[in-house]
Amino acid sequence: MSDAQRQEIPDYGIDAPDVVRRFLMIGTVALVVNFAAPSLVALLPVATAESALGIARSLGWMGWSFVATACVMLWGSKVGKFRLRDKLLAAMPWRGDERVLDIGCGHGLMLAGIAQRLSSGRAIGIDIWRNEDQSRNSPEATLRNMRLEGVGERVEVRTADARELPFDAASFDVVVSSWALHNMASREDRRRALAEIVRVLRPGGRVCLVDIRHGPEYAAFLRDAGLPAVQLSAPNFLFVMPTRTVTASKAG
Ligand SMILES: C[S@@+](CC[C@H](N)C(=O)[O-])C[C@H]1O[C@@H](n2cnc3c(N)ncnc32)[C@H](O)[C@@H]1O
Repeated sequence: MSDAQRQEIPDYGIDAPDVVRRFLMIGTVALVVNFAAPSLVALLPVATAESALGIARSLGWMGWSFVATACVMLWGSKVGKFRLRDKLLAAMPWRGDERVLDIGCGHGLMLAGIAQRLSSGRAIGIDIWRNEDQSRNSPEATLRNMRLEGVGERVEVRTADARELPFDAASFDVVVSSWALHNMASREDRRRALAEIVRVLRPGGRVCLVDIRHGPEYAAFLRDAGLPAVQLSAPNFLFVMPTRTVTASKAG
């Protein structure tokens, strides 16, 4: 593939790239030790060699599991999350004129899928563009993807923190967030972000939160905030850790 062709393909990055890299490195080292062990222990006394080989066998199992986990995570970033996005968006009713907010939009996975369902509506993504959460993360990369997906005119991106949204109350018909809120380590920060979601959502508006952690916490918060019919999905293991989806709508 030429550089010119590569430049024309959207790039949605890799989630948690440091974790994937670390798992691949640890797994590879463990497997190399496991494969080299029979030659390395040849010089040891028999009893020591036997226990060294036992350790090497355990390292082999550990190596395969680390490499397999990294591969599943890569598959999740490149394939699995697109399938889940399409399923979730297909299950939502769209008029085409909605104003939609994507919190922690990264490279625009949700934005692209949503914008394809809009006509006069707008999809707005906010993010703080952390590279440890998604590789090569920047507003320019997201806008480039949206242009390549043919939805550039229906999408805006802004730099903003989920805990302090720069939008008026009741200004969005739909708020979504995928694999982003768990990046706020403190429960208090996540509660601030959830309170902001409830604030900017219009009466009758819908919310859809996808995440690898804290699904029950999000559902409980939204119920306590008075949103009716909050639903928490069964887990899906596309990133090894259980991804769950919380959906709800604000009373009209
Ligand atoms: C794993 S990425 C997921 C990106 C995108 N939603 C997707 O599904 O591909 C998590 C994103 O959340 C963003 N993020 C983390 N903390 C945030 C915060 N406090 N406010 C806004 N965005 C945040 C990161 O910069 C990153 O782009």
